[in-house]
Amino acid sequence: MIKNRVSELIGQTPLLRLAVADGAGTVLLKMEQYNPTGTAKIRMARTMVDEAEAAGLLAPGGWLVESTSGNTGLGLALISAERGYKFTAVVDNHSSADKLRGMLAYGAEMLNIAGDDEALATAERDAVAERLAAEQGAYWTAQHVNQGNPNGYRPLARELHDDLGDEIHYLLGAVGTGGSLCGTGRALRERIPELRIIGVEPVGSIAFGGAGAPYHQSGTGSPEGSEIGDLVDYDLIDEGIKASDSEAFETCRYLARNFGVLIGGSAGGVVYKALELAQSVGPETTIVVLVCDGGEKYLDTVFNDDWMAANGLFDAQVVDRLASMLR
Ligand SMILES: Cc1ncc(COP(=O)(O)O)c(C=O)c1O
Repeated sequence: MIKNRVSELIGQTPLLRLAVADGAGTVLLKMEQYNPTGTAKIRMARTMVDEAEAAGLLAPGGWLVESTSGNTGLGLALISAERGYKFTAVVDNHSSADKLRGMLAYGAEMLNIAGDDEALATAERDAVAERLAAEQGAYWTAQHVNQGNPNGYRPLARELHDDLGDEIHYLLGAVGTGGSLCGTGRALRERIPELRIIGVEPVGSIAFGGAGAPYHQSGTGSPEGSEIGDLVDYDLIDEGIKASDSEAFETCRYLARNFGVLIGGSAGGVVYKALELAQSVGPETTIVVLVCDGGEKYLDTVFNDDWMAANGLFDAQVVDRLASMLR
């Protein structure tokens, strides 16, 4: 089938079964890295723009602005290039360099508000995006509160149901804005009322309680001081759990080396938690993991031995556990 626009290539991503230990639950990875831009977030970027166009908020030649740690920005950069909008990404130094380079490749304008500071600056970024919109007439997509964000994942839920029917017992995903897990989960639960939805955030992220602390899983979680938007729907999420950076990154590295499966850091944490859950259920139980992006964007960090060592992230116990949970 021939497509006419690159956004028509979004979706229909594959499902990959993990080789879990005998007797464990079935773990299926929804491989969202097979979307344009290599991430699930292109789904919500397209929908936020579609909805803004339909509401008359974006006119031809219009200007979009978003505060982004990378993957949302990549999506908005691509859609803007496709549809002739100007896009300004407000970023800090926490984003992966490859995501920033990707946005530039699609012709985005980059506004780094962090100077030399390495820390995540979500609140400051949001304030700058809001000001650009208010003072200069750009349209701020405001991903933390925009319903187009969760709405963008309805097709993902449909794909899962088309492929698996009602036989999905658990849905696990990383929680940043909450758009991907809650958007997918809400739409899927309309079809499967008993579905259990489990959110995973980094240790140090504050959406599911606990003390705030710095973490290295990029693009996900809610750092201390950030506001948790309404899109994180606590009524929908049955359980919120935490993955450490070591659990997340050792999982990425283990899957790459033992199975040739290259996933991003946040997905590594979700997969680790899914494998733990799989130990306590039988093979007839199906656990679907939303893999937000691929590992290609993290070759300088998660897959770099020096970076892992410098940040004290190697953990042999996690590797042993992985070896016991996977074949
Ligand atoms: C790598 C990665 N993981 C997880 C998330 C969290 O997704 P959501 O904002 O839909 O909760 C994001 C969001 O940008 C991301 O880029």
